[in-house]
Amino acid sequence: MLDLNVATRAENVNEFSRAYVPEGAPQVPDMPLAHLYARVSKHVTPAEWPLIARDVEAIERLKRERNAVVLGHNYQAPEIFNTVADIVGDSLALAREAVTVDADVIVMAGVHFMAETAKLLNPSKTVLMPDMKAGCSLAESITAADIRLLRQRYPGVPVVTYVNTSAEVKAESDYCCTSGNAVKVVRAVAREWGVNRILMLPDEYLAQNVQKEVPELELIAWKGHCEVHERFTPADIRDLRENHPGVVVLAHPECPPEVVAAADYAGSTAGMADYVRDEKPARVVLITECSMADNVAVGHPDIEFVRPCNLCPHMRRITLGNIRRSLETMTHQVEIDPAIADRARLAVERMLAIR
Ligand code: 13P
Ligand code: SF4
Repeated sequence: MLDLNVATRAENVNEFSRAYVPEGAPQVPDMPLAHLYARVSKHVTPAEWPLIARDVEAIERLKRERNAVVLGHNYQAPEIFNTVADIVGDSLALAREAVTVDADVIVMAGVHFMAETAKLLNPSKTVLMPDMKAGCSLAESITAADIRLLRQRYPGVPVVTYVNTSAEVKAESDYCCTSGNAVKVVRAVAREWGVNRILMLPDEYLAQNVQKEVPELELIAWKGHCEVHERFTPADIRDLRENHPGVVVLAHPECPPEVVAAADYAGSTAGMADYVRDEKPARVVLITECSMADNVAVGHPDIEFVRPCNLCPHMRRITLGNIRRSLETMTHQVEIDPAIADRARLAVERMLAIR
């Protein structure tokens, strides 16, 4: 089942995290922030925790002083996702939450394009990126000049770009999409523009996976790939099924189409988390960045997660240490040239208007 159409929502993890203690978690009431330790105890040793807790406490204090929130992507390391992140979700949910968030400062625990999207939607707020080098291979794969050339080559064909792109690229686009709404967006664009050809950029595999859902349309793709998801192969899925009988395979649509075809379900990071919550498979594997399984597993102690590990090196650049420094020094502030921002915002807002 391919589900690229889901209306995803952010879960405010703080509501859960401050109160929720996973079943069987070690009870260590003498530790600082013992209730949070319970959520990360599979990844952090009791000896490591006091130092981590010191950063968590400092970040919580700084958030209050600065009236700041931390938005955390589903791929963030467990010790960030389960502690200081106020709102967590997939790219679509983080973009939606960025519109309504009630704070003066937004810290993006994610990658640069996510921080730019938050800034586009909140020009008057301070958006902080703890490490400006946290990029994305998809965002690197295409430039604004590439889009201008494609428009010359395909006159009149609307351009839908994945949200994993720079603001300059978004400014040259008609619409954005995420993995959570890609099918819905291309169908809406085809309807509104009265066309059946759409440039869908830059993720070749996402475009090919969406193409299968919309055979009535012709999606013209680019050669961009996610360096994490392109490494999965159908042979990996075969091995997983052989070695873990009965395992339910969930894949992100940035994976090659043969991998998605071999999976039981494909959807955004939030789509996969929702699948686990709703279907409660006894044994599951998430074919995506590997911190995601660590984070989803916290809420599902009865489910066995098989965990192949492909880490996103860009997501890993964000640490509790640089989130803390970011709030202490109010760096690095994300700024976008207003001439670019106005056009880029339009593409993101057109996406958000499609329900
Ligand atoms: P989601 O929108 O599914 O969270 O994906 C973002 C991403 O970068 C996947 O690699
Ligand atoms: Fe980019 Fe892939 Fe990392 Fe997502 S996992 S941020 S698409 S490089």
